[in-house]
Amino acid sequence: MKVVSVVGARPQFVKAFPVSRVLRERHEEVLVHTGQHYSESMSDVFFEELDIPTPEYNLGVGSGTQGEQTGRIVTRFGELVEREEPDAVVVYGDTNSTLASAVVTAKTDARLAHVEAGLRSYNREMPEEVNRELTDHVSDLLFAPTRRGVENLRKEGVGNVHLTGDVMYDAIRWARSRAAEHSTVLAANDLADGEYVLATVHRAGNTDDPDRLAAIMGALCELDREVVFPIHPRTMECLDEYGLRERVESSMTLIDPVGYLDFVRLLDGAERVATDSGGVQKEAFFLDTHCVTLREETEWVETIDAGWNVLVGADREAITRELTAPVSLPEKPELYGDGDAAERMVDLIERDAGSTDGSDG
Ligand code: UD1
Ligand code: UDP
Repeated sequence: MKVVSVVGARPQFVKAFPVSRVLRERHEEVLVHTGQHYSESMSDVFFEELDIPTPEYNLGVGSGTQGEQTGRIVTRFGELVEREEPDAVVVYGDTNSTLASAVVTAKTDARLAHVEAGLRSYNREMPEEVNRELTDHVSDLLFAPTRRGVENLRKEGVGNVHLTGDVMYDAIRWARSRAAEHSTVLAANDLADGEYVLATVHRAGNTDDPDRLAAIMGALCELDREVVFPIHPRTMECLDEYGLRERVESSMTLIDPVGYLDFVRLLDGAERVATDSGGVQKEAFFLDTHCVTLREETEWVETIDAGWNVLVGADREAITRELTAPVSLPEKPELYGDGDAAERMVDLIERDAGSTDGSDG
């Protein structure tokens, strides 16, 4: 069986490597990098340290408006699919790379599998929410990481949904001990385990609104503890544009984005994390770090219900309060499967191929 896997942005490299490893053992995988992320620290570092094979194609789409970026992927991926004629295409998460490649695939004979299906924040102002909904509705095989994801899809009348568990849990299980053994990021930044707050901010709703970004940065800059902030390039551009960079640089440990193993080590060692990332909310749960989420809603509602995550939006006082108030970390329910999601997904893709065209894989 020939399977095209599509990645393009940082979280997709993390989601795809566990699946790619299983796929390549059993089938022909054609790995496609759309080029949505292209900086060394946002792309190459993941391929090197996660031992992801060099993609067979890089579509080189780069940055642009939502429409430009999506459109470029549609055009270039469309040509590629015509040439490769895959049996199946696997897409990950909720980025423009996900949606564009899904839309193209839906009009071909290839089966479309969506990893991380069924998630909803119910906030359509986020481009990611639109990407999630549309991708789910054109997919043939839907891999939901959580029961809530299955339920959301049932309500929308979408079929062929499988509760697989979360590939990011597979990824963390591989990475945690390696990060503890090999990462030197704590020493390099003079950080001690349990004595700093980790921050990440990149969501368009936060970075593109000067008031929200100023409120978040204000709270972090004035926190009475050390804050380490690996900064996304989009956020750095906005700090410059709004004149906030100098203040942030002088109040926090501002560093370039780090590779996955360094990030896992930073998150594992943090006393708390403040983030607007999707993936980091779950990783905090996996690594026993209390999460303070800089958004009004989340698609990862289970982490909130379990008491491991709290939503504070861009409310300066709430951010300060939640980053300083004592917390007792509750029992951890099993929310994201058993760490074998990737294996399960490849089994399901094989079974689906067998039932649709008689292929024996
Ligand atoms: C994208 C995804 C988001 C995901 C995030 C992961 C969409 C709509 N958004 O957001 O869901 O959480 O990736 O990090 O698909 N830039 C660089 N170098 C890079 C990449 C980006 O400098 O390698 C800068 C460019 O100025 C670019 C900006 O960051 O315009 C935004 O990049 P883009 O890929 O459009 O969106 P992200 O904010 O990264
Ligand atoms: N990550 C990383 N280095 C960083 C910040 C994040 O390796 O400096 C990893 C993190 O461990 C997680 C993924 O990137 O696996 C999350 O990506 P991001 O927050 O950019 O996107 P989102 O999950 O919000 O879509």
